[in-house]
Order: sequence, then C-alpha cells, then structure tokens
Amino acid sequence: MASTLNHIGIAVRRIDDVLPLYRLIEPGAPVEFEDVPSMQVRVAKIHLANTCLELIEPMPGETAITKFLEKRGEGIHHVCLEVADVDAAAARLRAGGLTPLYESGKDGSGGMRVNFLRPGETHGVLIELNSLKNANERRS
Ligand code: CO
Repeated sequence: MASTLNHIGIAVRRIDDVLPLYRLIEPGAPVEFEDVPSMQVRVAKIHLANTCLELIEPMPGETAITKFLEKRGEGIHHVCLEVADVDAAAARLRAGGLTPLYESGKDGSGGMRVNFLRPGETHGVLIELNSLKNANERRS
C-alpha cells in the first residue's frame, strides 16, 4: 500500500497569532489542539479534506523548534508521510545508508509513532515518517 501525506508541519511562534489566517482561508476546517511533551511542542492540527496542516509552537525553553525559528523564522518545517510501519521503514532506510533520527519510533501527536529523516540526507526536506502505534491496527 502506498504512503499518504499525513500532514505538513509549519513552525510558528504562537499558534494563536496564526490560526485566524487559516480560519479565514478554510472556515469549516476542524481544528484539534494537542500538547506533545515528548517533542516539546504544542500543535494545532487543521484538518483538510485530504491532509492536515500542523501548526507547531515550541513549549518554553530551548527546543528544536525554538532553534528552527531563530535560524529560519516561521514557515514550513517538515512533511509527514504515513507509512505502514515506521520501524520497518527506518530499518529499510538504514540499510539504504540513511540515518533516521531515532533508533526506533517515538511517541508523536495523535498517538502515532514517528521518526525523522535529516534534511542533510534528503535534499533539504525534513521528512517525518509516522504510523499507527500498532502496525496491525487499521484506520477505520
Ligand atoms: Co509532524
């Protein structure tokens, strides 16, 4: 089965300052808020018909998103591809010479397991891979 574009991650300083723009663009889109302590971020997921925009605000302190914002400013941070099994994908990528960020999938938002491919190895794109926690679980 082919992967899907699960979401596009957008780094922002404050979700509250950015969300009104997307509410103007797409007033009907459901928005879901979530704190993700494992990633030191708070996210607002804007659910579109075929994918999701994930506004990412750093939690206080020195976080990866804080560093990104300092260096690059607000904007597209990553694209997330949903795969059948994030650990199987990481193993395949390691065999192909890449070095995924985590040894095995880490807890991400929405109860998904996530891993990342470094932009230095992907022609400039931070790629998040995610899958349902239980690879046998299927979206209904
Ligand atoms: Co993401």
